[in-house]
Amino acid sequence: MKIAVVGAGYVGLVSAACFAELGHEVVAIENDLEKLAQLHSGCVPIHENLLSELFLRHAGIRLTFTSDISDGIRNAEAVFITVGTPPAPNGDADLSFVEAVAREIACDLQSRKVVVEKSTVPVRTCEAVRRTMLLAGADRRLFSVASNPEFLREGTAVSDFLYPDRIVVGVDDEYSRSVLAAVYSPLTNGSYYRRDDAIPGYSAGAPRILFTSVKSAELIKHASNAFLAMKISFINTVAAVSEAVGADIRQVCEGVGADSRIGNRFLNPGIGYGGSCFPKDVLAFRSIATQLGCDAELLTATMNVNQRQRDRFVEKVRHAVWNLRGKRLAVLGLAFKGGTDDTRESPAIEIVRRLVKEGAQIVAYDPAAVERAKRELTDIEIEYSDDPYEACRGADALLVLTEWQLFSELDLRRLAQLLRCPMLIDGRNLFDPSEVKEAGLHYHSIGRRESEAPLPESEELVPWHQ
Ligand code: UGA
Repeated sequence: MKIAVVGAGYVGLVSAACFAELGHEVVAIENDLEKLAQLHSGCVPIHENLLSELFLRHAGIRLTFTSDISDGIRNAEAVFITVGTPPAPNGDADLSFVEAVAREIACDLQSRKVVVEKSTVPVRTCEAVRRTMLLAGADRRLFSVASNPEFLREGTAVSDFLYPDRIVVGVDDEYSRSVLAAVYSPLTNGSYYRRDDAIPGYSAGAPRILFTSVKSAELIKHASNAFLAMKISFINTVAAVSEAVGADIRQVCEGVGADSRIGNRFLNPGIGYGGSCFPKDVLAFRSIATQLGCDAELLTATMNVNQRQRDRFVEKVRHAVWNLRGKRLAVLGLAFKGGTDDTRESPAIEIVRRLVKEGAQIVAYDPAAVERAKRELTDIEIEYSDDPYEACRGADALLVLTEWQLFSELDLRRLAQLLRCPMLIDGRNLFDPSEVKEAGLHYHSIGRRESEAPLPESEELVPWHQ
């Protein structure tokens, strides 16, 4: 099938490359000419596992790029809109890019197309897209509007696309349903998984495609992200209680998550959720719910707990190192989560900024996100290191702010020797407290009582203020 994808951002690029992987002929349309030049030269402009492999397979063959929307959509049967929907100052999603694309498609409509909204948008956006296209003069017989929300996580987006739990397609007419069924048929009929060259991944069988109304599909996206965010805020609330009474949140999570009605995924406490999706989507969902006169208290609480989680972590650092002024703190992790270079709404970035404003000196290491962090942290001065051990040399404490797998594999004894004061403050619960203690480090984590390593003989003690 011929497919156009408008907007070669994160969702657009992954979707375009995966559609090509499924055997479709795909044109990705991007108006940022610098990015377009990169794409033409075969470069993948984002850090995403497996995406380069898909580019190697399909770019220039089944996956082409253009900045010309009318050219790009000319032969397409399905046009996916994947432009950004950033938050507006009042918390609503800014849908001006979606509107502009809808208008452009309307002006260039020469053959029948299904216009599919894939960016995360509030419920009723497809209705507005349809209206905008009609007002722009599009022939109503030549188009229908559908919703096909994505559930891609940064870092595992290609596998999430090719091995989804479910595919949600919101349609209000038979034609859209048949076109979108055909788009995803290599996954739903299992033929993709039987290919020798299929990207490997875990599947419990061919995924289910769930056809709903357009409005229901739009709601499913916001409701899914809001629920996951709420699950994280919930466990962070439990973690605070667990810490206060000296219980162990790992054991609590294991016990709670073992109930199959709850499940143990997205039940890890930490420094709060970040990224370009959860914070924005919870806010936008709350905004639309409020505008519709519905109660959104649960969403407000989710956001408040998330913000407090960052405050509590800064408080924890203060408690561990006493005065922040003049302290040298090694920070591991700046990305909003492990496996990505993305620092948007990263709790790590906010925490670093606050610690610096309180007088601490930061030396930070992240395996992928340093360049992006530098662009974001222009208002403060911090040192960057290209090695996690070097970052710790002479520091008064080590702070772990991102759940990178490689951090959990660090040699704790070596870290203890490099640090000036053997203090590990772990915002992601990456370590086993007994192993940390054995390595000679004092350990503060989330939802567990702090553990003290044996103090050195008094003449070896180095006061913090020196
Ligand atoms: C999220 C959703 O998981 C995707 O399904 C969705 O498609 C995507 O948003 C989107 O709307 O485009 P993503 O933002 O890539 O994906 O990141 P997640 O893996 O969901 O993590 C979000 C945040 O929650 C991170 O800061 C992470 O550290 C935090 N988190 C996650 C926790 O604190 N605890 C957990 O147990 C899980």
